[in-house]
Amino acid sequence: MNQLRSRTLGDLTTSSIGFGAMVLSPGVYGEIDDDRAGTALRAALDEGATLIDTSDGYGADGHNERVVGKAVRGRRDEVVLATKFGFRIPEGAAPHRFPVTYAFGELAVNAEPKHIRGYAEQSLRNLGTDVIDLYYPHFPDPEVPFEDTVGAVADLIDGGLVRQLGLSNVTAGQLRRAHAVHPVAAVQTQWSMWQPVDPELYAAARELGVGIVAWSPLGGGFLTGTVRQLDEGDFRQQIPRFDAANLRANNDRYAPLRSIAADLGLTPGQLALAWLLHQYEHVVPIPGSRTPAHIAENLSAAGVGLHPDTLARIEGALAAFTPEGTGALLRGTEPGEQD
Ligand SMILES: NC(=O)c1ccc[n+]([C@@H]2O[C@H](COP(=O)([O-])OP(=O)(O)OC[C@H]3O[C@@H](n4cnc5c(N)ncnc54)[C@H](OP(=O)(O)O)[C@@H]3O)[C@@H](O)[C@H]2O)c1
Repeated sequence: MNQLRSRTLGDLTTSSIGFGAMVLSPGVYGEIDDDRAGTALRAALDEGATLIDTSDGYGADGHNERVVGKAVRGRRDEVVLATKFGFRIPEGAAPHRFPVTYAFGELAVNAEPKHIRGYAEQSLRNLGTDVIDLYYPHFPDPEVPFEDTVGAVADLIDGGLVRQLGLSNVTAGQLRRAHAVHPVAAVQTQWSMWQPVDPELYAAARELGVGIVAWSPLGGGFLTGTVRQLDEGDFRQQIPRFDAANLRANNDRYAPLRSIAADLGLTPGQLALAWLLHQYEHVVPIPGSRTPAHIAENLSAAGVGLHPDTLARIEGALAAFTPEGTGALLRGTEPGEQD
């Protein structure tokens, strides 16, 4: 197997490019229904994606997990199933709010240990499986010591409901604190050509041998070079880089990278994914798509080798590419960072 085609995240082995299922629930990036979602997931599996990423917070009432569960029925052994918890706050439990850069300003989670077994049991039912391969708190809870949340996931691992611990949207400090409680297989963080990885998180992951699952590796579609305007109701309208004027400016500034892709006979999206794979031997990008042709295009980037001269050319173009609008999801503060 080509080294680019297989990666390890802790004790898990996955395809080097996975599949992010968020786009398969209504209200994210454009039109979708369950038939189309099932077709997309089967295409991802048929094209060799073995890491499928979902969350109990995508879609209403576990919708995204349920479409994933349906698609992997009969193929469970082929797949590393990753899901996250914290956004589906039980009735009577307090929402713990924290600021984000999206236009609506804040999100809320509840990752109190007393709820976490219930979250996992509901996700197992939604996914139609008896074990979650990789389980993440979706965001650190600003009102719960991170060690307590992580300890509750460690208990699920001891109990056989979960195989490996993941962390999502954490700082390097939070990774280190969690890893001291239980070994972390992977951190999930936003990382792409228009969103550099947090250098401290990257360094800590390398040092500890922790994998990095790169979310929005295509910049929510921008890096494919095909997003020129957004339809009404598209969630990306909440993201400053996609507002109409910023999107126009960003497409202009991205032209040099599109040219590099064209010179190499790649699509811009393939270049973006292949570049990510060359940044760290334990990075697994999880692009999402509703479209089988796009899924095949994305997964074929796993076979693209980039010469050091090409990588240097890309770095030069990236150094000159400053997108307009805030990119990272998190604002300056660090939710859940308690010293
Ligand atoms: N942990 C977190 O907080 C967090 C946050 C955000 C996302 N995530 C994870 O990361 C995954 C991916 O992120 P994402 O969906 O935000 O962004 P993404 O994968 O960067 O981009 C998805 C968008 O790109 C388009 N696209 C994909 N391939 C394409 C191609 N070859 N040509 C043209 N357009 C293409 C898709 O449209 P089509 O459907 O038309 O192909 C979709 O609109 C999610 O599914 C989720 O699992 C995690």
